[in-house]
Amino acid sequence: MTDRPYVTLSCAVSLDGRLDDTSPARLLLSNPEDFDRVDAVRARHDAILVGANTVRRDRPRLMIRSPERRAARERRGLPVDPVKITITASGDLDPGSPFFIAGTAAKIIYTTSSARDAVAGRGFDATVVDAGQPLALDRLLDDLAGRGIRRLLVEGGGMILSEFLAHGCYDELHLAIAPIVVGDPAAPGLAATRLDDRLRLTEVRRLGDVAVLHYRTSTALDHSLRRLLAPARAVLLDFDGPVTPLLADGRDALVADRVRQALAASRIELPDELRTTSDPLDLLDWATATRLGADTAAAADRACTEGEVAAARIAPLTTDADALLRACRTAGLPVIVVSNNASPAVSAFLDRHGLAGLVAGIVGRVPGRPELMKPAPDPIRRALTLLVPYGIEAASVCVLIGDSVTDIEVGRRTGIPTIGYVRSGRRPALDQAGADATVDEHAPVMAALMNQGIPR
Ligand SMILES: NC(=O)c1ccc[n+]([C@@H]2O[C@H](COP(=O)([O-])OP(=O)(O)OC[C@H]3O[C@@H](n4cnc5c(N)ncnc54)[C@H](OP(=O)(O)O)[C@@H]3O)[C@@H](O)[C@H]2O)c1
Repeated sequence: MTDRPYVTLSCAVSLDGRLDDTSPARLLLSNPEDFDRVDAVRARHDAILVGANTVRRDRPRLMIRSPERRAARERRGLPVDPVKITITASGDLDPGSPFFIAGTAAKIIYTTSSARDAVAGRGFDATVVDAGQPLALDRLLDDLAGRGIRRLLVEGGGMILSEFLAHGCYDELHLAIAPIVVGDPAAPGLAATRLDDRLRLTEVRRLGDVAVLHYRTSTALDHSLRRLLAPARAVLLDFDGPVTPLLADGRDALVADRVRQALAASRIELPDELRTTSDPLDLLDWATATRLGADTAAAADRACTEGEVAAARIAPLTTDADALLRACRTAGLPVIVVSNNASPAVSAFLDRHGLAGLVAGIVGRVPGRPELMKPAPDPIRRALTLLVPYGIEAASVCVLIGDSVTDIEVGRRTGIPTIGYVRSGRRPALDQAGADATVDEHAPVMAALMNQGIPR
């Protein structure tokens, strides 16, 4: 296993696969919504790479536009803009181009061994690095890894994308398809070399008149999961979603109705949005925040717990959830279920499916204290306490699998790597929240667990 950065290739193409036309002006393929999507993608990467010809022709700034995304990076202790990288053999770059002068990001120029000194001698405001003769992408990626770059976004142009594709130096490909036909075979295209691999289509989105497709190499996911799971000594597993769709198929509304009935005793009018909400936890939040009294809040929580237990008696098992628990057992990783649902509901479900023996502990909602639910760190602290007998004390040696943004957020706050379990189109939200990997089934996680050379 290598530490090379996770590489995302990203570009916009016309319907006939062109990245630009051959006129001097840059062809705008994306629309404003798609530019904003790219901005969000940039914000999730440590560095952005473009070829020298793109630097010359498009004069890109390669900065994050959204003030919110810039502020969020700063809060996470990251530089507001990703590092800017280009590749050149000629060194024919304008030191006054926005690549060099816009923003405060560090800049790196990768060049060939023979050109290194000449390029360095031109006084660019950038670190100039010899990447071999001929320039080797593996060497470039190793060098980036050594500089702490974990996620690299490659935005083009055609020659650069072709090289990353041809050498298999990528994990994901984001393709925005614009409703334009360039109709010029001389215009730059995405790939100049045939690829034998069939990629996995992982997402299809419509942004106005642009279609955005995400692909992964079949090995990419394995790679990131194995990297995440290699140091893991315990798994923290969310319940509603990864183990069972507990409150799906209208069961959430039934639980919310029970809670509303309990709250009716207080004779305090519910705000409009809570009269119809199907999320019982919203009602518990409100009951506590409006200080209805300990008795009412406790009654609401009891009603919620009863509703969740009732749901646990009929909810199905998520596909392969049992196999995932068995794989963790075989791999020697204790599993703690960490849920915002009540512990009795988790127990009832695990008992019903004969899975209780595969779980080392359950951390559920603290009655009357909704403010302690994920993304608050309290459930993680309690899970770590349950892991002490296993000799595990550090959050960093756990992996959290969850299907909500709150799971990813609590992972980030407590230093636990996270695997987003995607259901109902939530992948962008989980990616955006900073999930270290996302899966839409348990099988790849199980495969990564079994491939670690375990049991240990
Ligand atoms: N639609 C989109 O999403 C998108 C995104 C980006 C760019 N573009 C378009 O793509 C076009 C530019 O693409 P392009 O294919 O002409 O150029 P490019 O890929 O941007 O850059 C090619 C240049 O990179 C350097 N280079 C590439 N591989 C190298 C290697 N192995 N060793 C050393 N240097 C290497 C060379 O620079 P030197 O010549 O300096 O040696 C080469 O000329 C522009 O029209 C731009 O608008 C479109």
